[in-house]
Amino acid sequence: MTKFVHLQSKNHSLIIKTDRVPEILHWGAKIAQIDEDLILSTERPISQARLDVDVPLSLCPELGSGHFNAPGIEGHRQGYDWAPVFTCTSIDEQTNSVLFTLVDEVAKLELKIEVMLNPDTDVLQKRTSVTNIGEGQYTLGKLSSTLPLPNHANELMTFHGRWCHEFQTQRQRFEHGGFMQENRRGRTSHENFPGLFVGTNGFSEQLGQVWGFHLGWSGNHQMRADVRSDGRRFVQAGELLLSGEMILEEGETYHSPWLYGCYSNTGLNGISQRFQQFVRDNIVKFPVEKPRPVHLNTWEGIYFDHNPEYIMQMATEAAEMGVERFIIDDGWFIGRDGERAALGDWYLDMKKYPNGLEPVIEHVNQKGMEFGLWIEPEMVSQDSNLWRTHPEWVLGLQGYHQPSGRWQYVLDLQNQDCFNYLFGRLNDLLSLYNITYLKWDMNRELVQPGHQGRPAVHGQTEALYRLVDELNRAHPEVEIESCSSGGGRIDFEILKRTQRFWASDCNDALERQAIQKGMSYFFPPEVMGAHIGPYECHSTNRRHNINMRGVTALSGHMGVELDPVKESQQEKQAFSRYIALHKQYRHLLHSGRCFRIDPVDKNQNIYGVESDDEMLITVCQLAMPDHALPSPLRISCVDVSAKYQVKLVEMPQTSFQLMKQRPQWLDKTLTLSGDNLKEIGLTLPILDPESALIVHLQKI
Ligand code: GLA
Repeated sequence: MTKFVHLQSKNHSLIIKTDRVPEILHWGAKIAQIDEDLILSTERPISQARLDVDVPLSLCPELGSGHFNAPGIEGHRQGYDWAPVFTCTSIDEQTNSVLFTLVDEVAKLELKIEVMLNPDTDVLQKRTSVTNIGEGQYTLGKLSSTLPLPNHANELMTFHGRWCHEFQTQRQRFEHGGFMQENRRGRTSHENFPGLFVGTNGFSEQLGQVWGFHLGWSGNHQMRADVRSDGRRFVQAGELLLSGEMILEEGETYHSPWLYGCYSNTGLNGISQRFQQFVRDNIVKFPVEKPRPVHLNTWEGIYFDHNPEYIMQMATEAAEMGVERFIIDDGWFIGRDGERAALGDWYLDMKKYPNGLEPVIEHVNQKGMEFGLWIEPEMVSQDSNLWRTHPEWVLGLQGYHQPSGRWQYVLDLQNQDCFNYLFGRLNDLLSLYNITYLKWDMNRELVQPGHQGRPAVHGQTEALYRLVDELNRAHPEVEIESCSSGGGRIDFEILKRTQRFWASDCNDALERQAIQKGMSYFFPPEVMGAHIGPYECHSTNRRHNINMRGVTALSGHMGVELDPVKESQQEKQAFSRYIALHKQYRHLLHSGRCFRIDPVDKNQNIYGVESDDEMLITVCQLAMPDHALPSPLRISCVDVSAKYQVKLVEMPQTSFQLMKQRPQWLDKTLTLSGDNLKEIGLTLPILDPESALIVHLQKI
């Protein structure tokens, strides 16, 4: 008998119809009630010259029932039981979640499909688990989560990238065929961020229906979006399992990672606001609720050149600029004089720090700052004591040569002795020193990820989570940043146990505008590390004046990444100014609703954050303005019945090349009604390329 499950959240409905198997009938705008005739009105015709029965696009599509696209599950029992067909045996419906149990009595498999619709944020969460209820082993090839899309979702937006170039987006039509992304890098990766959007033709930041997806997993994954020849379409995502990686013994269960989904009828803004709120409410946990401290990270300032007296001088200058957390990056441990040696030897280098680390930490603390330290626990250099003592701890395959990456190798975290060593080292460091922050790095991909000869990306990923979890339990006051050569490990699952991401090793403010924009579709600003770098960017050699650098960094979790001792007085004053500006608005930046405005000039990036009574909007001119005069800034999210005080808070202080005369309002505080701001808009000054302004709106 047909059964309906109707989950409802603040704005949305999810209707699942179950006959033999569950199938989503609707995921989108709220439906008041399920009509009796819905069964009839949704019955599909059967087309000529194909199967004689209707095949549902179920929550776990099956090859064995005639789904000719990617099945949700693949596997076998020594060559048998490779095309399972399930029957739903129970439906456990709660207010905001449902658990379907399905069984295949022939293949002896049990599936559990969990679906939750978050009542406040409308974010949907889905995962599937399979248990081997038969005799002997079951080799699981794949268990992915499938979510259908309506036929009018016909445009795709996907992510690509590389080191220093994370979160780049690409659009394509989604009418026939599809898109597939396979990540085999053993970490979330710069190249294949596990997220995508599908929407109505031409969907934009502010307009259109959009469905957004993110797989919360830090290992290998497969993510695809397919249009079937019958027009039905779906997104499917799950872990990419290597050959023979997942063998289930009798009674054993495999859980897929969580797939997060979200619908919006207000373009990408509606998606990112929901994902961001979901992250705030359900994913990230801060040990103490306090303003996100402004960082200084030493990496680009001194690299491997550590001298405690000098570092203390840096700390003094940092504190004077308003920095609140001082982090010593790579280079502090025995033998780490360059990138080719010492990873694994997590003991302080007494040659560099003859008096220990304590005087530095005390100095940092005396200056009113917290102290943080860089580590890269999963790695080992060939030239290290750890390698010399335990070459067998390396994740690899015997009998083959394995290429190094950044001259280093990965440790096998499933080796319990290795795991214990790492936990021991980290635990000792955190117990010995007053460290409240770890920058946890991971700088290479997994090649030949073998544990005892078997593929081990899954096990490695789970073991990493375990290591971080155990450390969190032992030191709950310590915050952790997830860094992986910049943004190589950014996802919801790692964020459940960390508090910040280093978005990119590229500190070029222009590049950062695009990277941060891409990241903002999923993550709120308070977890997005964003630092002011030096005038000449180390990764691109491009130069940006302080306005562009300061404005770009201040909208995230702000920091500086340079050597303040070497900076001019003028630059330092400017850093202080942007840090102060960030502090003035961080309550709003780190709790408000973020939005982007579709620019008329494609060379602009316009983004903002609003609360119920104020708003901060940044307009960044990425390249030469398209026209001689900028288009008015029309602010669609204002309250049309309210009045606002409008004030410019930031603009380049250098002379303007493209503008002869400034609009007078730049030096005044305006009072404007919401409808004026929305319909007529605010006339902007002409910005030179690679510069930015910030406007503040206060509701009266
Ligand atoms: C990675 C990180 C950088 C820095 C270096 C140190 O590249 O992304 O921020 O910590 O390692 O080696």
